[in-house]
Amino acid sequence: MDNKSYQDHYFRKAKSQGYRSRSAFKLIELNQKFKFLKNGIKLLDVGSFPGGWCQVVVKIVKNGKILGIDKKKITKIKGVNLIKGDFLEENSKKNIIKFFNNKINVILSDMAPNTTGNKSLDAIKTNELCLSILEFSNEMLDKNGVVISKLFMGDDFEEIKVYAKKTFKKIDFFKPNSSRDNSRETYIHCNRLNT
Ligand SMILES: C[S@@+](CC[C@H](N)C(=O)[O-])C[C@H]1O[C@@H](n2cnc3c(N)ncnc32)[C@H](O)[C@@H]1O
Repeated sequence: MDNKSYQDHYFRKAKSQGYRSRSAFKLIELNQKFKFLKNGIKLLDVGSFPGGWCQVVVKIVKNGKILGIDKKKITKIKGVNLIKGDFLEENSKKNIIKFFNNKINVILSDMAPNTTGNKSLDAIKTNELCLSILEFSNEMLDKNGVVISKLFMGDDFEEIKVYAKKTFKKIDFFKPNSSRDNSRETYIHCNRLNT
């Protein structure tokens, strides 16, 4: 599928199913593969605007405690608590910790920086965000918890792999079909902390 057909296909699919973003299908595929969305979990979704992933989460997870955070304001989603803030700021992290008041079972991040058009620079910035999620997870994730984060195959990909291997018992990489073939985007799935 060429880029335009890809965009049209997932745009129509998202619209017909009531999702705010095409990204929703990436989370659906990730969950089909790794099965981390379960009833009663505490779940953090970072970089959640416009809210497609949160919509998928509330459809599947019953009686969960769900928090979404993004720099941009997200329109309300029933069953999801939303914070507008920059995840990299200490104050946002404090707000997240205060909200859960306990360890988190699932941490998701689809964070992406504003693209510059320079593929290497975009990859570096995305991977910095990924590393910050893994570091935060090291502190705040339940020892049997799961982290999923977007990353880009780039020069600093190895650094993430080394950190993830050191921090988690099991790591995998997965590129959903709904992620464009020509994009270097992929997702890391990390399972259970090395305590
Ligand atoms: C690809 S979009 C997420 C789409 C979302 N998963 C969905 O399904 O609707 C990436 C988001 O990451 C957010 N983002 C980037 N850097 C961030 C940061 N430091 N803190 C919070 N959000 C951030 C952007 O504002 C953008 O809305």
